[in-house]
Amino acid sequence: MNFQLTEEHLAVQAAARDFAQTELLPGVIERDEHQKFPAEQIKKMGELGFMGMMVDPKYGGGGMDSVSYVLAMEEISKVDASASVVMSVNNSLVCWGLEHFGTEEQKQKYLTKLATGEIIGAFCLSEPEAGSDATSQRTTAEDKGDYYLLNGTKNWITNGSTASVYIIIAQTYPEKGHRGINALIVERGMEGFEVGLKENKLGIRGSDTHSLMFSDVKVPKENRIGEDGFGFKFAMQTLAGGRIGIASQALGIASGAMELALKYSKERKAFGVEIAKHQAIQFKLADMATNIEAARLLCLQAAYDKDEHRDYGMSGAMAKLFASKVAMETTVEAVQIHGGYGFVKEYHVERLMRDAKITQIYEGTSEIQKIVISRELLK
Ligand code: CAA
Repeated sequence: MNFQLTEEHLAVQAAARDFAQTELLPGVIERDEHQKFPAEQIKKMGELGFMGMMVDPKYGGGGMDSVSYVLAMEEISKVDASASVVMSVNNSLVCWGLEHFGTEEQKQKYLTKLATGEIIGAFCLSEPEAGSDATSQRTTAEDKGDYYLLNGTKNWITNGSTASVYIIIAQTYPEKGHRGINALIVERGMEGFEVGLKENKLGIRGSDTHSLMFSDVKVPKENRIGEDGFGFKFAMQTLAGGRIGIASQALGIASGAMELALKYSKERKAFGVEIAKHQAIQFKLADMATNIEAARLLCLQAAYDKDEHRDYGMSGAMAKLFASKVAMETTVEAVQIHGGYGFVKEYHVERLMRDAKITQIYEGTSEIQKIVISRELLK
């Protein structure tokens, strides 16, 4: 068994680290405070190939593997989890879904622009009454012959106001339950499509999260992804890969907090010595490092399963479940190591602690990951 990263992997990791430190770190506190979307930075991430990393180069992507994606997500998330959620949704939920299930026309029209970061996309499943219970879609896509008539509301949509392309999960045949759901591509600006209020969030405040309203939006039939009624399975398969992205985000938040805590503990003195010389701090650092390494291995395992075309539903859910718990615990401890300084914005760890929480909620709560894992075990 070989745990070594290749030269290519190390190069991607170094490029992502460099970008995060030079382009994302300056201004990250201000963007968090003012809920400012990192527009310029996302544009540059597109230019560097981070917005469509795994997409086939013939559609403008980087043609990289999922392991590279995990490595890049970790580095970006260490510094700016708001930028990394934009990256994760665009890569895993939008580009991956379109590349694997879209028609050639859809790929030429949308994927080529999404993969280069020229535009960004949004994945719209959650509703006011359908979060974890994803089959209970109230948004309807009525079949009107050559188009679908879309009506309803979506909630908590990442890239809500900044996306140009939206993948909407909606119910066409309510009597068929999950088999009556479709996934439709909706463009910004289609008549009857309105972006609702921006959420004022605890964390990932630089990302824009909105509700979306659809009122008699006519979506051409050619914008449906996959066969009629494939929408729920499309969403589930897409989310299975998305969870590897969010697991890597959680990993990055944790390792970012750990790096800051390590640095601070060697600088700060108490009782005559650097606090790193106190066993109370050493034990915290040892626990953090051990948990982070375990989370990293789970993320890489899930990515490797995906790259090897093995089933990654369970390994991705395990990675997300564990890494998000580690993100929460590590960031709380990183604040503790920083003491009073950890409680103020300049030291970054309070932001990482706030950002960590969402990784236990979106793309399936921790409880949903446990359902996915236990169902696999009990099969
Ligand atoms: N791949 C393919 N098919 C799958 C699948 C998968 N991973 N998971 C389920 N399915 C299929 C099942 O086989 C079943 O099909 P058949 O009836 O033909 O066999 C069908 O889908 C229904 O499956 P279940 O009976 O298991 O459905 P369920 O109602 O019990 O729900 C669930 C399962 C795992 C709880 C699911 O509802 C779920 O994942 N919920 C969480 C949704 C979620 O992650 N929301 C996050 C929103 S997106 C987001 O957060 C993005 C963002 O902005 C960052």
